[in-house]
Order: sequence, then C-alpha cells, then structure tokens
Amino acid sequence: MVAAQQEKPGYAISSYFYRSPVVYQTELSQLIYRSWIYAAHVSEIPSPGDYQLFEIGEDSVIITRSADGKVHALMNICRHRGARVCEEPSGNRKTFVCPYHGWVFNLDGSLRVAREMASRDDFDPSELGLKTAKVEVFMGMIYINCDPDGADFLEAVSGELPGVLSLRHLSSRLRQNAHTQRPL
Ligand code: FES
Repeated sequence: MVAAQQEKPGYAISSYFYRSPVVYQTELSQLIYRSWIYAAHVSEIPSPGDYQLFEIGEDSVIITRSADGKVHALMNICRHRGARVCEEPSGNRKTFVCPYHGWVFNLDGSLRVAREMASRDDFDPSELGLKTAKVEVFMGMIYINCDPDGADFLEAVSGELPGVLSLRHLSSRLRQNAHTQRPL
C-alpha cells in the first residue's frame, strides 16, 4: 500500500491510511509513543498531590506533582495485574490506590504497600513501582516521552526550531523557574 502511494506523487493520500488499524498501531508504536508530547501545563497541577490524567493512544498517564515539587509522568497501569490505579481525570491525592487488590503507590510512582506480599522472600517493592515516562518541564509546559531511550528533549526541539530560540541557553533558567512560573 505504501509503495502504491509512493508511485502517485501529488495525489491525496489514500483513505486506507486514515482507517487502517495497522497504520494506527504503527503510528502509535513508531511515532506517538516515541515522541515528546505536550501533556499539561504546570498551572494545572500547582500543588503537591495535584494530578491530571493524560490519555495517549490506548494508554493513560498520570501527570502528578510530588511533595518535593517535582513533576512525574506515571503509567496508569498497576504492576500487579494491570488495572488502572486512577480513574478520576484530575484531583489531589496523597497516594494512588489500585481498586483491584489495594496496592498503594506514592506520588512519584514508587510502591508503598502491597497487601499480603511482605511475607514473600522474592518480593522486592523497589522493583514494582509504576512505570514512568520521561518528563520535561519547559516554559511551564509539561512534555512526556513514553520511550525510555527517547531523544533528549532539547535535542529534539532544537531540531524543529533552529535559530528561533537559543534553547540551550534558556533551558537551565526555565527549568529552574518552571514550577514557580516566576518571570525570568
Ligand atoms: S491489579 Fe492492582 S493490586 Fe492487583
């Protein structure tokens, strides 16, 4: 299908590419889950415990702020049996409690309590926190990248905006001020 399309330069793209589940899944795996995506603005989660859900493809990501002020992007998938640990689209929490068997996760995604697991010798809570996406706060905007090996945020953005902004010069100051929104 791709080859057929390439033989017709100047023609509108075939409707197949808009409807195909194969193309959709390929776009998710090759593009959406491997790119830096805008997820929220810092003003939407100003206080510790504030969170917002961000739906990306068929996944859900919890954008949250922990007690130390850091922003986290947590995959909304319990490490026990895969249930969503949070269904409300936004709010303020001290923890995220899985509704299925009650595992409790901290705001940074680490596992706090796992019921009836303490007696197991092979159970290591430090290995079973929520998975995380890469997160970058830039000029008050929160970007995430689901690919742990994804490109550095500034490298990716600098390629898109050559000469528009001196991003590397601005970045450290903006990162320092991102969560406070103070003018530079
Ligand atoms: S699926 Fe979350 S605690 Fe079992």
